[in-house]
Amino acid sequence: ARLVVLVSGSGTNLQALLDAVAADPGYGATIVAVGADRDGIAGLERAERAGLPTFVRRVKDHPDRAAWDLALAEAVAAHQPDLVVSAGFMKIVGKEFLARFGGRFVNTHPALLPAFPGAHGVRDALAYGAKVTGCTVHFVDDGVDTGPIIAQGVVEIRPEDDESALHERIKEVERRLLVDVVGRLARDGYRIEGRKVIVP
Ligand code: GRF
Repeated sequence: ARLVVLVSGSGTNLQALLDAVAADPGYGATIVAVGADRDGIAGLERAERAGLPTFVRRVKDHPDRAAWDLALAEAVAAHQPDLVVSAGFMKIVGKEFLARFGGRFVNTHPALLPAFPGAHGVRDALAYGAKVTGCTVHFVDDGVDTGPIIAQGVVEIRPEDDESALHERIKEVERRLLVDVVGRLARDGYRIEGRKVIVP
């Protein structure tokens, strides 16, 4: 399967996918391009180091959000992906993107959805006083972190945790989960029935 990975930050989830592809010829997926919504991020450097084509589509370079969404969709489509992975991509895509890639756009979120959706899933779980949290790999739909869940991993919250310590422990679980899920979707195929994701 051909993967396009979208990033906004450090790109450690992207790196985990790059490492999995490099380590295992039977992994089932190859990364064909990496896209971002901003310049100068470590995620793009990781892609360049791996010799992959990259593209950047910034919202502020477009007249409005819909135009940006269309530009992003076209940049992704140019690489003819089977699956698109949002690995710490911190933008909500719009109608045009979902019309093209709905049902094959995977996101990873650092909380156990449906708890703590949105941009501050780690902080919100801590502030709520939750005792466990984790990460969720899911398909993207037109809500914020509401699409069908593929897999989840659990992480205990420790009394001494702050946001960054907790996020680091979540990300260790998240990277393994994302690599496992993407490989299974790519190798085994899947279907989505309502909210259920069925991987044979
Ligand atoms: C991940 O925890 C992702 O779920 C969150 O941002 C983090 C991205 O980390 N939205 P990285 O850029 O893959 O290192």
